[in-house]
Amino acid sequence: FNVPTPANEPVKEYRPGSPEREAVKKALEDFRSQETDVPMYIGGKEVRTDRKLRIAPPHDHQHTLGYFYEGDAQHVKEAIQAALTAKDDWANLSWEHRAAIFLKVAELIAGPYRARINAATMLGQSKNAYQAEIDSACELIDFLRFNVHYAADIYRQQPASSPGVWNRLEYRPLEGFVFALTPFNFTAIAGNLPTSAALMGNTVIWKPAYSQILSAKVIMEVLQEAGLPDGVINLIYVDGPIAGEVIFNHPDFAGIHFTGSTGVFQQIWGTIGANIHKYKTYPRIVGETGGKDFVLVHESANADEVATGLVRGAFEYQGQKCSAASRAYIPSSLWKAVEAKVKQFLGEMKMGVTEDFTNFINAVIDERAFKKITAYIEEAKQNDTVEVVAGGNYDGTKGYFIEPTVLLVKDPNYRTMCEEIFGPVLSIYVYEPSEFENVLQLVNTTSPYALTGSIFAKDRYVIEHVAHTLQNAAGNFYINDKPTGAVVGQQPFGGARASGTNDKAGSALNLYRWVSARTIKETY
Ligand code: NAD
Ligand code: ALA
Repeated sequence: FNVPTPANEPVKEYRPGSPEREAVKKALEDFRSQETDVPMYIGGKEVRTDRKLRIAPPHDHQHTLGYFYEGDAQHVKEAIQAALTAKDDWANLSWEHRAAIFLKVAELIAGPYRARINAATMLGQSKNAYQAEIDSACELIDFLRFNVHYAADIYRQQPASSPGVWNRLEYRPLEGFVFALTPFNFTAIAGNLPTSAALMGNTVIWKPAYSQILSAKVIMEVLQEAGLPDGVINLIYVDGPIAGEVIFNHPDFAGIHFTGSTGVFQQIWGTIGANIHKYKTYPRIVGETGGKDFVLVHESANADEVATGLVRGAFEYQGQKCSAASRAYIPSSLWKAVEAKVKQFLGEMKMGVTEDFTNFINAVIDERAFKKITAYIEEAKQNDTVEVVAGGNYDGTKGYFIEPTVLLVKDPNYRTMCEEIFGPVLSIYVYEPSEFENVLQLVNTTSPYALTGSIFAKDRYVIEHVAHTLQNAAGNFYINDKPTGAVVGQQPFGGARASGTNDKAGSALNLYRWVSARTIKETY
């Protein structure tokens, strides 16, 4: 059978007065005017506890959007039991019936749920309408549709046979349950992690970041409306280490689909390693983790293109993208032109709440992030070798607002060139064109990460040389473009080194991790 050929979901523009903007405004108003009740979903049932925690917009943290119910170790055990109970029926359902559910989810998000999921992301995660449209609605729709397309390719792959022998590969799900542990910053990633494993026949425990719970609830509403059977995806709100303690000690733990910070992933990997004798099967460990993504500029580049790439790459969604441009290397011959353009763009940018569609910069996710990012800025201000070229101010009284900040560093190994800050801070090192080869080595070695990176150059010999020299420095490498904004189906996404296991999200490479194939040889 054929599956629908996927195409990327067209991105809506939210022009003033457009029906899509009016729909989002209404959805924002709906969320703002009532307190949303957000239960856990275990075995298809809504679960409430006596621990009610507040949900607030990061850009207006005194406002209450609603409450979610925090669970404990007992809820994790119940979710595991629900996943194991649902397992056989789900695994034995023919894959096209599983696929049909996720294609319906995509249709529901593209249509009736689009405004609601975007509004939940705008309010809950302080993401402006355009960024929400791209990575809550469109990217999640793309993940769902392209995953079905790639799954069809996988299920079609069969080994050769010979006279008197018929060989077959059965793509079974993993034996046990899968744990999806998801980050706050991309609603699409949060939705992709549980659904991609489930598409391949697994049942899942999904624990989102507490700061993404409003949009996680909308995803769960859509999954239920599309007819996902009870227990296939169980959504729990339990403190990470408490959930981990139960899950990583369970004999039926079969795999983790993680996106988040490098430190947490390394800790989890260590725990799984220490417990390895407890499991029925070796768990699959898939992790997409941190980044310290570079923009390398050659003197043959165009300064305006560089400035556009830097500003968009570093400051969209307040720099809270694993892929964000956070360190740049610019030749002295171009620096003044790039600096002037960057300052011009930043001067034109408005900062404020997401409900006002003209604000490009919104708040960072929470108080912890605000304190961490502003500590980097304060330290830079005190350091004689660092110049604050733009921004540097912040105010957390009403919302966690930090100006887009550009630091010019004299030391290319200064900590803001090496460490993931995960906020609107771009560090720039200006080099002499004659130092280019040394700078290439710096790009390769100053950070342990290898997620994304860009080269801006017109000289084709330079582009080829850089692409070759930096072949392990970025899982996603961009030529004359910003290092953010990978599109599902076009640029499979993921990095290596401290950035993850490089099992490219939104590709067959990722889906293969969620099957455990059985070879059958039949002789006549
Ligand atoms: P995080 O690591 O703080 O949290 C990720 C998830 O792990 C959350 O659900 C959290 O509650 C849970 N968690 C935290 N500590 C835990 C523990 N000790 N045991 C078990 N679970 C635990 O990450 P975040 O702040 O939500 O997201 C930002 C990070 O994610 C950044 O480092 C960013 O680079 C990374 N990220 C990477 C990619 C990628 O594709 N490589 C994409 C998005 C985000
Ligand atoms: N898809 C996201 C980006 O490339 C992670 O920025």
